[in-house]
Order: sequence, then structure tokens, then C-alpha cells
Amino acid sequence: MRESDRVTTAGAAPAAPAAAFDAARVRQDFPLLMARREKPMVYLDSAATSQKPQAVLDAMQRYYTTCNANIHRGVYGIAEEATALYEDARRVVARFLHAASPREVVFTRNSTEALNLVAHAWGRWALAPGDAIVLTPMEHHSNLVPWQILATERQLELRFIPISGEGELQLDALPALLADGRAKLVSLVHISNVLGTVNDVAEVARIAHAHGATVCVDASQSAAHMPIDVQSLGADFVACTSHKMLGPTGIGVLWGRRALLEAMPPFLGGGEMIREVKLTHSTWNELPWKFEAGTMAIAEAVGLGAAVRYLEALGMDAVFAHDRELATLTLERLTDVPGLRLLGPPASRRGGVVAFTLEGVHPHDIATVLDQGGVCVRAGHHCAMPLHEHLGIPASTRASFHCYSCPEDIDALVAGLHRARAVFAH
Ligand SMILES: Cc1ncc(COP(=O)(O)O)c(C=O)c1O
Repeated sequence: MRESDRVTTAGAAPAAPAAAFDAARVRQDFPLLMARREKPMVYLDSAATSQKPQAVLDAMQRYYTTCNANIHRGVYGIAEEATALYEDARRVVARFLHAASPREVVFTRNSTEALNLVAHAWGRWALAPGDAIVLTPMEHHSNLVPWQILATERQLELRFIPISGEGELQLDALPALLADGRAKLVSLVHISNVLGTVNDVAEVARIAHAHGATVCVDASQSAAHMPIDVQSLGADFVACTSHKMLGPTGIGVLWGRRALLEAMPPFLGGGEMIREVKLTHSTWNELPWKFEAGTMAIAEAVGLGAAVRYLEALGMDAVFAHDRELATLTLERLTDVPGLRLLGPPASRRGGVVAFTLEGVHPHDIATVLDQGGVCVRAGHHCAMPLHEHLGIPASTRASFHCYSCPEDIDALVAGLHRARAVFAH
């Protein structure tokens, strides 16, 4: 086995997470949350982006101050160190996702780019006019618009798995969507960024594969919050994004099944992704570098590696249980607010995302009143316009959690919602 094929175990988390999850203690690792302010900060927008622990900031700072150099090119000391750090981050991510090999882990700019990579490189290679793509109405625009662009270009049909009133996929409809053999891809979100629904991706993959379709998963909201095992998920592509995983912006991940990544053409052309270049044609580098054109986000990869190590040390089972506890508490507490409509399924079937509407109060007004009390939430369509249209609402307000969120944050949210009602709802 070559070094680059090895999934690292160095710095791996202990197998069993600590029994009691102490979010107040975890919070102390996050300088932005601990900074002194006039009014305390209540950060409930982790689904948009997460805060960063000191360990991530330190790792990036260390890279820039000790071995900043371009990777894969230099033969001098710091260039080799930079390359080693970059490739170590890949091995850590591979371990985190339970990839068979780091070669299946491609660094991108974010999930959006990872999904576009699949659409452009795999989609253009594998799909022909008349083929169909199966999506869901709860997709983030990142897993919808790339397929719309491809569908227009290639005369493809887009089909959608219906969702129930509670915002869950009606999987009994999936076999019929695949029955004619024209649907070559099922691409879906793992955890909805609006409804919080945790989709049964393994079951979708089982049904899709039985009909010969490839499966792509948008794990933007799940990889940051729950254990992800790409082997047992059964998908062929999985996309995630560092900035929601306690890591920096500017880097994301596409995991792909090795045989598919080997077979499909590259996405972007340029330096590093080539083996040999002639004036009129080129050949491609090995995996995963075939998909990494140009100078990559090196410090950001190092930061992502540190973030993943931090998450591993917390234990992803514990992080998910904590999210779910907060979601349960939030759903309970929000039922006390008159005129409040909760979106999505019960807490037992969702992640740490709770979106809602409040009768007579626009989501932006809610967010503004909450901000006056130091509470950061998101208001709008959350890059899921078709889902909001399906729900019959123009926008919603969303509270979302991470490992540093505490029950006191929910107290502040509920108090702010009562204030918003007092100001706006008559
Ligand atoms: C479900 C989902 N998919 C995709 C994305 C896109 O992530 P990024 O902007 O990092 O590419 C997001 C971000 O909000 C998301 O929540």
C-alpha cells in the first residue's frame, strides 16, 4: 500500500465518546463565542456556518508561520512539509468519512463546487438526451441548479421524490420514478437545511442501485453533525463543506467511489491535474489530483484536518445526540409561542435545525428583533426556494445548533420570539 492510499489513524479519537456531553465546556474552545461583548452572543446559525475552535485557528496560523509553500512542487524542506500537512488532512477526512482510501477524497472549494464537479464531470460523461435525474423538493439550490443547467444542456428530465406534510420523503414513490430505466442518477440531501429531516439515504441508495442508478448525497448538513460512513450509506458520491464542520471557508470535499472517479473525465483543467501536456492534448494525473486543478486552499485543508480531529475527539455520536436534545427542547419550547408553525418532522427524525413561521410577523422582522437581544438566527428562503413554495410560505426563520450550543440559547430564542410577537403580531 502506498502512503497516499493509507487512511491515517494518527491522532484518532478514542473509540468511546465521553458519557456526558458538556457543551458549556466545549464552548470555551471557541474564541468568538467567549469574547466579551456588551450583550452576550447567542449563535443559532450553525447551519449557515459554524464557529471555529482555537485548534483550527492555531493549525492554520502554524502552517502560515512555519511552512507556507506551494504543495506537490517544491523539493525544499517547507514545501515538503506543506505537502505532508495537506495530504495528512486528506487522510484525516478519509478516516472521518470511512473512505476506503484517501484517493477517493477530492478537495473542492465547498459542497457547491463538489456537486457541480459531479454534474459537470460525471453528468456530462454519463448522461445522454432522454435520461432522467431524480431529486427531491427539499434540495438546497446547490443540489438543484447544477442539475437544471445540465438538464437544459443535455435534454434531461428532472423527477422529484414527493414529500409528506411533515417534510419527509415518500420513498414508496421512488421505485416508480426509476421503473422505466431512464433515471440514471438519484441526488439528494442527507439532512435538510430547512426541515432538519434526516433522509434514509441508505434505503434510497438500495432502491436506486437496484434500478441501476448512481447515487449522489449532499451531506453538507450531516457530515458536520453525525457519524458518516460512506461505505454503509451506499452512495457513489458524497459532498460536504468545511465551514459547517468547524473548519474554515474555502474548502470542501467530494468523496467518490474510486472506479467512478477513475472512469470519469476531469472537471477543471490546469496545473497539477495533468500527467503530460502536449500542445493539442493532455493526459490526466492519478486520483485524487486529477480533480484538483491549480493551487489548492492549502491552509484551509490544514484547518479542515484540525476541525475533523476536533470533531472526532468530541465523538460524532455525542455531537448528534446533543443536536437532537436541543432540537427536542426547542420544539417543546416553541409550541408555547402562540401563532408559531414548526416546519419539518418530530425531533426523533431530525438533526439540529428548527425552522418556523410566526403568524403576522415577517421572518426578517423576527430576526431583527432577535438580533436586538444578541440572538443570531437566519431568515429567508435558506437557498431552498422550491421547498418554501411547496410549503406555501415565502420565507421562514431558522435556529440551528452545533456542539457549542446550550439550552440557555433556546431560552434566549423563546424570549426573543415573545418580544417579536409583542411588537409585530396584533
Ligand atoms: C444542504 C446544503 N447543501 C449545500 C449547501 C452549500 O454549501 P456551500 O455554500 O458551503 O457550498 C448548504 C449550505 O447552506 C446546505 O445547507
